[in-house]
Amino acid sequence: MKRTLRIEILCFVFMLIVAVQLSLLLITRVTSPTNQGQELLGKKAKSWELIQSLQGEAIICDRSHDNYEWCFLNRPSILDKNSTTFSTIGSQSGNSTEKIRPYPRKWEKLTMSLVSEITLTTWSIEKPCEIYHETPALVFSVSGYTGNFFHDFNDGIIPLYITLNTLFPDQDVTLVIADFTNWWYSKYEVLLRGFTKQPVINLNNQTSTHCFTSVAVGLISHGPMTIKPIQNPYKKSSFLDLRSLFEIAYSKCSATLPPPLEAGKPRIVFMSRTGNVGRVILNQDQIIEAVKKAGFDVVLFQPTKFTYLCDAYRLINGSHGMIGVHGAALTHSLFLRPGSVFIQIVPLGNDWLADSYFKNLATGLRFQYLEYKIRPEESSLAKIYGLNHVILRNPNLIIRGNWSALDTIYLKKQDVNLDFNRFRMYLEIAFSKANMFLDKRG
Ligand SMILES: *[C@@H]1O[C@H](CO)[C@@H](O)[C@H](O)[C@H]1NC(C)=O
Ligand SMILES: *[C@@H]1O[C@H](CO)[C@@H](O)[C@H](O)[C@H]1NC(C)=O
Ligand SMILES: *[C@@H]1O[C@H](CO)[C@@H](O)[C@H](O)[C@H]1NC(C)=O
Ligand SMILES: *[C@@H]1O[C@H](CO)[C@@H](O)[C@H](O)[C@H]1NC(C)=O
Ligand SMILES: *[C@@H]1O[C@H](CO)[C@@H](O)[C@H](O)[C@H]1NC(C)=O
Repeated sequence: MKRTLRIEILCFVFMLIVAVQLSLLLITRVTSPTNQGQELLGKKAKSWELIQSLQGEAIICDRSHDNYEWCFLNRPSILDKNSTTFSTIGSQSGNSTEKIRPYPRKWEKLTMSLVSEITLTTWSIEKPCEIYHETPALVFSVSGYTGNFFHDFNDGIIPLYITLNTLFPDQDVTLVIADFTNWWYSKYEVLLRGFTKQPVINLNNQTSTHCFTSVAVGLISHGPMTIKPIQNPYKKSSFLDLRSLFEIAYSKCSATLPPPLEAGKPRIVFMSRTGNVGRVILNQDQIIEAVKKAGFDVVLFQPTKFTYLCDAYRLINGSHGMIGVHGAALTHSLFLRPGSVFIQIVPLGNDWLADSYFKNLATGLRFQYLEYKIRPEESSLAKIYGLNHVILRNPNLIIRGNWSALDTIYLKKQDVNLDFNRFRMYLEIAFSKANMFLDKRG
């Protein structure tokens, strides 16, 4: 009880700071895109309705959120070669210009400085359209924290899904990628096919002018690992719906087949962390033996930046559960089938992250979720500081809004040595749940 109260107080203080900063932000923003736009924002219309009711307005921006903003140029637009500016085509239709960095971590100055700034303007340029797209463009950046598997989804793929469903639920869209990297494109190319039939455009290397029916810039985020329902006449959004897009995309690529299932046993994917990265299971071999003894068919999975997601999807979608210590790789649980078992092992001080990232996801995907919170004696920090140190006894007191303490001590410095007997009890529960899922769904 005490602990949750403290977290709530922390959250409240954090929200208060955000609210104050936000109001400062709004006060300093004197240049409003349009009067009608401001009026609509004041009414907090849902974004899709906002666009539908634009009527004569050329540009509208929603900058009212703490974590993201987006702008929409509601005119046929042209993107000049080697440019980050979208201009209206033909005769000039107003006098406004908006600049925006399309990455949904608006509150992090340093991260945002890595993100290209995109300009939308109603000033037209005299250039012919060399490539005409009969769709709107959606521009977003794959800079920032992209490259970390959690952030790839949390700040990229999931907001992309939300944005498409919010702004363009009824039409196909051309994706225009700022801060493009070949790594990102080869990692997510297959998945993007689940979002749009149009070719993907690399903003950074164009040698032709491109024209679009309209342009949106920016990604909408609903918060850490969150998809809130979006009501519009065309689509309802949820993690389950997003996952069905994954299924469509990944059923169209050829993958290395996972090892054959052991007959009659539920398969669990064991997410393994190794090296000097923190949150490693020091007695992993012993724990894997226990997982096998509990009756599971165990597959060890050690993803890297270059893991081919078709292979990962095939393996995980074909399994009945996942087990792992809190960390970015657990984002692969997005590929588990609804109803699967998911055990998150939570090191000291990781509670808030564990809940707001992967427990959230587990709820959204209807997993049978189990959480194994380690005790101080199972933490490698006990060896460094001693069992009675405040770092072990009261992590919340140390963390208290101090990200650097959380990061250096509890995320990077801490490994775990699981209590074999306690962990076995969780495995028994997990096994009976996974077995039921196997019986029901195969
Ligand atoms: C694109 O523009 C940048 C600077 O604006 C310039 O350095 C670069 O050479 C240009 N590239 C091409 C292909 O025109
Ligand atoms: C465009 O707007 C700016 C500021 O609102 C103003 O100073 C400028 O004169 C306007 N230009 C035209 C051509 O209307
Ligand atoms: C731009 O980059 C994409 C992706 O790497 C590539 O397919 C395309 O050919 C490049 N275009 C030009 C004009 O270089
Ligand atoms: C995912 O699992 C379901 C249920 O077992 C199966 O029907 C489907 O083909 C699998 N998808 C892929 C891409 O393998
Ligand atoms: C945050 O934690 C770090 C690491 O424990 C510590 O060095 C620093 O003084 C703390 N900062 C504040 C403001 O408490």
